[in-house]
Amino acid sequence: MSDEYLSSYKLLDVTQKKLDVIMNIKKSVSQTFAIGGELVVNRLGYGAMRLSGQPGNFGAYPDWEGGKQLLRRAVELGVNFIDTAEAYGAGFNEELIADALHPYPEDLVIATKGGINKPAPDKILADASPEFLRKGVEGSLQRLKLEQIDLYQLHRPDPKVPFAESINALAQLKQEGKIRHIGISNVTLEQIEEARSIVEIASVQNRFSFNNRTNQDILDYCTKNNIAFIPYGSLGAHPLKRGAPLANTEGILADIAQKKGEGLSPESNRSACTPRVEPNQIALAWLLHYAPNTILIPGTTTIAHLEENIAVSSIQLTSEEMDTLNQFQDV
Ligand SMILES: NC(=O)c1ccc[n+]([C@@H]2O[C@H](COP(=O)([O-])OP(=O)(O)OC[C@H]3O[C@@H](n4cnc5c(N)ncnc54)[C@H](OP(=O)(O)O)[C@@H]3O)[C@@H](O)[C@H]2O)c1
Repeated sequence: MSDEYLSSYKLLDVTQKKLDVIMNIKKSVSQTFAIGGELVVNRLGYGAMRLSGQPGNFGAYPDWEGGKQLLRRAVELGVNFIDTAEAYGAGFNEELIADALHPYPEDLVIATKGGINKPAPDKILADASPEFLRKGVEGSLQRLKLEQIDLYQLHRPDPKVPFAESINALAQLKQEGKIRHIGISNVTLEQIEEARSIVEIASVQNRFSFNNRTNQDILDYCTKNNIAFIPYGSLGAHPLKRGAPLANTEGILADIAQKKGEGLSPESNRSACTPRVEPNQIALAWLLHYAPNTILIPGTTTIAHLEENIAVSSIQLTSEEMDTLNQFQDV
């Protein structure tokens, strides 16, 4: 190699490295998102649904004290966004949150939902009539011991009720001060646009994960319009079944997890106690890096898994790793 060629090669190498740094800075993620432009929350939140009786997320969580400890640990670890719903329990999940955390830390945002009537474990009946939504908000306020709900989400549109009627009812409750921000869940792009033509929509909660990107267009729309996107099933779980397909999985998530784990301690120091990075942590880190407006709500019933999930905030994915992960959808 000539000297001239060598120096231009070095220059290219340096430029590439600088470019990589810039790309990484660009891709490095903000840890917070301001819901409705004002409620600043850590993007790693907690989904409380699983702290309910089983089967069917129905009835009181049998280990009530354990559930309280888990919720308190979440807050201790910096979680200040907790997702729940009237339908979880039904009602018991909100009561558990209040029992564990009330009086609430000032920065805690509890997002609940209404519009589903759940009288039995296997009966999930949409009811987004104005009357049921009003009753739902009143009930949630009481169970959560709140005077105003920071984020109230329509759990799902009710085919029996014109969508605009449900949204108008929430707009009215917002005007009365019972709701601070309105969110919608399990919606189409057309429904988001219709809702936004009536009232400000602060969040959308639809299924989305590394292995399920069917709501990509909705995430893109929310990103473009600075609306919080709350992906549920972020570990690929079925809401009524235990376990998560993205935990202990093989393939690209596991490969990147292993590489990251190896980076945590020098070769000479590696042992059985070397901290591991899990594939499910890469799946969550990917969601944090994928768009700046995602707020994650992984659900768990164990403090060990909770701690593992929250630790994701310290995982940095490079632009190269993101490019690779973006291309893979099957695990
Ligand atoms: N809007 C809607 O219609 C809707 C529907 C479903 C859910 N949601 C919301 O989304 C939240 C999350 O949904 P989800 O709980 O169904 O699904 P998820 O977050 O994808 O997965 C939860 C499952 O993953 C397991 N898990 C969690 N962390 C783990 C870890 N570090 N290692 C191994 N396994 C782990 C949990 O088991 P362990 O208990 O053993 O950890 C649990 O069975 C719910 O709490 C709820 O707030 C909303």
